[in-house]
Amino acid sequence: MTELTNRQYFLASRPVGEPTPDNVACRDVPLAPPGEGEVTIRNLYISLDPAIRGWMSDAPNYIEPITLGDAVRSSVIGRVVASNSPDFAVGDVAMVMGGWEQYTTVPAGMLNKLDENAGIPLSLFLGVLGPTGLTAYFGLLEVGQPKAGETVLVSAAAGAVGSIVGQIAKMQGCRVVGMAGSEDKCRWLTEDLGFDAAINYRTCGDYRAAISEACPDGVDVYFDNVGGEILDAALACLNRYARVAVCGWISTYNESELPPLANLWQLVARSVTIRGFVILDYLDRFPEGIAQLAEWVMAGKLQFREDVVDGLDNVLPTFLRLFDGSNSGKLVIRIPE
Ligand SMILES: NC(=O)c1ccc[n+]([C@@H]2O[C@H](COP(=O)([O-])OP(=O)(O)OC[C@H]3O[C@@H](n4cnc5c(N)ncnc54)[C@H](OP(=O)(O)O)[C@@H]3O)[C@@H](O)[C@H]2O)c1
Repeated sequence: MTELTNRQYFLASRPVGEPTPDNVACRDVPLAPPGEGEVTIRNLYISLDPAIRGWMSDAPNYIEPITLGDAVRSSVIGRVVASNSPDFAVGDVAMVMGGWEQYTTVPAGMLNKLDENAGIPLSLFLGVLGPTGLTAYFGLLEVGQPKAGETVLVSAAAGAVGSIVGQIAKMQGCRVVGMAGSEDKCRWLTEDLGFDAAINYRTCGDYRAAISEACPDGVDVYFDNVGGEILDAALACLNRYARVAVCGWISTYNESELPPLANLWQLVARSVTIRGFVILDYLDRFPEGIAQLAEWVMAGKLQFREDVVDGLDNVLPTFLRLFDGSNSGKLVIRIPE
């Protein structure tokens, strides 16, 4: 293996605003053989998630920032090419928190083996049957606590997490309204996924008026994927005892300052529960979540979109698509074998 090189996209400096090639640089390094108990995988899929932008900063977060000089951290799926562990053989496929790189070497205990002969496309384990599906499942059901007949509002609704949230909320008997950034995305929500209404937040004008119109009975659960002005407008439309599940604030990830929330007082005025969460809070219940999501997918009750881009060298420009909304569903880099 010593003749192999590992192409890596590493954090050269911490971005201010959108990450640039100065912040995320490329290098080819010799690939060392795995140490005692370690395994090297050749990455096949790299998951691109908004949270990675947060890990590039040194602001306090739910996991440590990426160390300067390290490959950018990402969930990956890869095939074992060298193993120094009895638990993994060359040819096995596994998922792990790896990096924007061609090869990832980790202690065997960190890898989750996947069965590539189960008839499930591997990339789904990064999306609907992985962290994004689980975020929607636990975030909506445990934090949002929707009840039949209630109105659920979800932002970034056509995205990887939001599209699953809305469909699960429909299965709970809720009225579901999604906010998304294009007519195409809004049509997909209402015509294909069964959302009751969709708001194109780029063209709707006043957010609060648009939410009120689409939710005439008020909002009982707001699943917040974006933060900022949309969160503030949603706060003004909540019903008494509403729940706000704070999943992510993608509208702020490239900003240096958080915008003010003028309507925060509505938490008091309407006795609202607002709760942030990360999917790692539910780590011990992942098997339950994956089993339920897989059952729904196989029964045709849960639709999903994947946006798969070939080539490790496209990783940074592809990552930036999360922030201009040009991704269509779960964004993944594929490095064909
Ligand atoms: N708490 C957790 O454990 C957890 C886990 C996974 C994800 N998340 C969070 O969930 C959210 C969605 O993540 P995802 O992986 O499913 O990504 P995604 O929704 O597939 O992609 C991001 C989408 O966000 C929308 N967006 C980008 N900038 C925006 C802005 N300024 N204002 C409004 N919308 C904007 C865009 O859609 P439009 O075209 O509609 O603008 C874009 O397509 C993110 O906030 C992420 O951090 C949290």
